Amino acid sequence: MREQDAYLSEAVIGGSGNGCKLGQTFPAPETPDASHIDQSVELAGVRLKNPVVAASGTFGFGREYGEFFDLSELGGICCKGLTLSPREGNPPPRIAETPLGMLNSVGLQNPGVDAFIRDELPFLRQHDVTIIANISGNTPEEYGVMCEKLSEAGVDLIEVNISCPNVKAGGLAYGTRPELAAEVTREAKRHAAVPVMVKLSPNVTDITEIARAAADGGADALSLINTLRGMRIDVNTRRPILKMNTGGLSGPAVLPVAVRMVWEVSRAVSLPILGMGGVSTGEDAAQLMLAGASAVAVGTALFADPFAPLKVRDGLVGIAARQGLSAVRELSGGVRPW
Ligand code: FUM
Repeated sequence: MREQDAYLSEAVIGGSGNGCKLGQTFPAPETPDASHIDQSVELAGVRLKNPVVAASGTFGFGREYGEFFDLSELGGICCKGLTLSPREGNPPPRIAETPLGMLNSVGLQNPGVDAFIRDELPFLRQHDVTIIANISGNTPEEYGVMCEKLSEAGVDLIEVNISCPNVKAGGLAYGTRPELAAEVTREAKRHAAVPVMVKLSPNVTDITEIARAAADGGADALSLINTLRGMRIDVNTRRPILKMNTGGLSGPAVLPVAVRMVWEVSRAVSLPILGMGGVSTGEDAAQLMLAGASAVAVGTALFADPFAPLKVRDGLVGIAARQGLSAVRELSGGVRPW
């Protein structure tokens, strides 16, 4: 039996109620030198220096997190979702904790695409990091206008959000109907001079249908998953906790759903995938990459630990080193299904 197997079976025996000895410690596996590991990946022809991206809606435009670490450490930054005009978002309460996650009903609060280009992009551009703009429109035409503005302004990639569960117009309405998903993608592609990545919703019966529609519309990449629609109720007041009644669930609770959907989509279309949903460790990220993602985004974990993306990056590199790989990207698509 390999040393690694012995380590695993000990853990399983303890975990199956067979007398886990309190205080017993399992030695951490040794991490070999990882300095030779190539961390770079490619997403729709755009090079990321490492596979870890800060997820849209959890990182603002980077200024606050920039006080904790150098933003150039990241593979990419996906900015808070932008709309053509500024939006105040939905009324509070719009955040609620859940077991192993959180619900949000923020409603795309943002300063609008022009203010982003004027006030935020120059700051982001001071860093050596791939900049991804996330956009939501009320109509396909609005997506087109934003793609044109953002391409001219010099973002590296555009994430077309057709999956926000917290707005009445656009959002999920586009992300749950294949023909509309294809139409929005086509309109974005017509106006974008940089690669277009379409962000998919898990709130569908078959995510591969929407993935194929986005591919038919000309998408250069896909990102998934956005949040799962959820709800919490205060049993005393009998009121939903969120003012909008429902919101989007994120955090560790959704990771297995994300892994499953990335796996399904990667087998259905041959587009690069930015995988996300509940990633807080290198192992979580490795699961998404093995399922078929080229890169991963870290979101909700940032609220508990601003350094989470850097820890995820280092964890991924450690896994690649322990598995004798020379590049982190070798993990992509490496799952061995039964
Ligand atoms: O409500 C929000 O701002 C969330 C956006 C999203 O999930 O895409």
